[in-house]
Amino acid sequence: MARINENYKKLQEGYLFPEIYKRTVAFQKNNPGVELIKLGIGDTTRPLTMAVVKHLHEVADEMADESTYRGYDAEQGIMELREALAKHYKKYGVNLKADEVFINDGAKPDLANLQSIFAGNSVVAVQDPVYPAYVDSTVISGKTTGYKDGKYEGIVYMDCTEENGFFPDLPKQNVDLIYLCSPNNPTGAVATHEQLKKFVDYAQEKKAVIIFDAAYSAFISDVGLPRSIYEVDGAKTCAIEVNSFSKLAGFTGVRLGWTVVPHELCAEGTKPGEVQALWDRRQTTMFNGASNIAQLAGIAVLSEEGQEEVREVIDYYMHNAKIIRDGLAEVGLEVSGGTNAPYIWAKTPNGLDSWEFFDKALNEAHVVVTPGAGFGQRGEGHFRLSAFGKRENIEKAVDNIKKNLKI
Ligand SMILES: Cc1ncc(COP(=O)(O)O)c(C=O)c1O
Repeated sequence: MARINENYKKLQEGYLFPEIYKRTVAFQKNNPGVELIKLGIGDTTRPLTMAVVKHLHEVADEMADESTYRGYDAEQGIMELREALAKHYKKYGVNLKADEVFINDGAKPDLANLQSIFAGNSVVAVQDPVYPAYVDSTVISGKTTGYKDGKYEGIVYMDCTEENGFFPDLPKQNVDLIYLCSPNNPTGAVATHEQLKKFVDYAQEKKAVIIFDAAYSAFISDVGLPRSIYEVDGAKTCAIEVNSFSKLAGFTGVRLGWTVVPHELCAEGTKPGEVQALWDRRQTTMFNGASNIAQLAGIAVLSEEGQEEVREVIDYYMHNAKIIRDGLAEVGLEVSGGTNAPYIWAKTPNGLDSWEFFDKALNEAHVVVTPGAGFGQRGEGHFRLSAFGKRENIEKAVDNIKKNLKI
């Protein structure tokens, strides 16, 4: 008798984006002909760069030729890409071995799958507000009981508020796995060396493991801020880093990312190398490698020419972020993020809750924002704007906000 994984029943409805969709459709029905500008969703809009496209054409030709066609490659990834990524980290002063870098088909699956190599009763800590995949994968793997007041019982929520600069204090209780995301989605906050060091020290003391989501690291331009957790002393013993080509190079649809599991990393009772070997075992069993076409394109992204091109695209998005930040500040809104991250996090005016502000922005400025409450209890009273839109839309949205939003 097959029985389902009952933990799925504990999941709350994916409420945020369906509700945004519902309200947007209703507005459009009642206001035909009004142009709405969507600054809610964090998907990229710039096309792939020339170096990548040129390489993709070459790879397509190779795949069409019997003498150069390639089928399966190693589950852990094409060695040339793993080596190129290890070399990429040297720019930040981080030395990695190629076999510590595991290629994936984007960050999201590994952020969830990593839980499977740790004990089923691990206590998981997440930031609040939070990227929902960390929470839902914790629920699916059976680590929670009930759901109350917007929180799952069994998960430790680490508040990220104005008071702590949207970076959490250390958990008061012992936890085993800690998800940290910097630059942060949704708050746009970027952790400093000192802030990360506190978590690394905690993890070393408690034998906890940090799962560090660096999917937006390419948006950090301030050289004083860490782009990898491994820039912090001791992190290799206690942190796994997950990253992605999605926002780095517009690969949201192409699908490519990577996970670093250092040999030094230890969990309770393991020797150096054992956790890396476990992840290797998991991947060779349950994953058959990312698309080789995507991986070869990834090598082009990491080339000198590729890096120059993606820099231009990132600068474009970051200029969008500046337009949004400046525009919101001009109308008197309190903004954070958006300087080393593609998300702007703003406080709703006049004590409005985040859905009330969503409706106000929709009706008055014809702009779709993402209500902060959709990212967790501590997101209430805030909203997120994404800088990934097209420039003309960003300009129009900010113009509408300046002219029509009544604050
Ligand atoms: C914080 C964060 N991590 C991971 C991801 C997933 O990225 P990928 O496209 O590589 O699966 C996203 C996507 O928006 C994200 O915001």
